[in-house]
Amino acid sequence: MKSSKVQVKVFKFTPLRDRAPRFDVYTIDRSGMIRVSDLLEYIYQNLDRNLAFRKISMCRFGVCSGCRVRINGHPKLSCLTPLDNATEFVIEPVAGYQIVRDLVVDFSKPVKQPAPSDGTAEINVEDDAQHDRESSLAEAIE
Ligand code: FES
Repeated sequence: MKSSKVQVKVFKFTPLRDRAPRFDVYTIDRSGMIRVSDLLEYIYQNLDRNLAFRKISMCRFGVCSGCRVRINGHPKLSCLTPLDNATEFVIEPVAGYQIVRDLVVDFSKPVKQPAPSDGTAEINVEDDAQHDRESSLAEAIE
């Protein structure tokens, strides 16, 4: 029988306040949810009003790239990443940029970013840099 629960580990870090990043863990009923962006919205609306992620003025259709995060170690658009049958998601900010707070980075400030504190996912700056190049190319083509 398919589990209706999904475990979500969300990267949390406020640079000016926290000594180190952490992961907050939520177990959520996935009923009615389709994409990873739905999980983030649910967490924000029901469990953690302090969670920082980009959601205002976002397209939700893979156009603006504003919802870009790392999902299970890979850079992806949360609005286009389906939950499918996965039972666990690790959601982190994209690597290679200064963290503003939690999942929000400043894309104008590239940095060499350390790996997350718990080691659940290695940050591969090359992956994200490649993703950025592909996104830029896609934007240029449109
Ligand atoms: S919200 Fe625009 S690409 Fe995901």
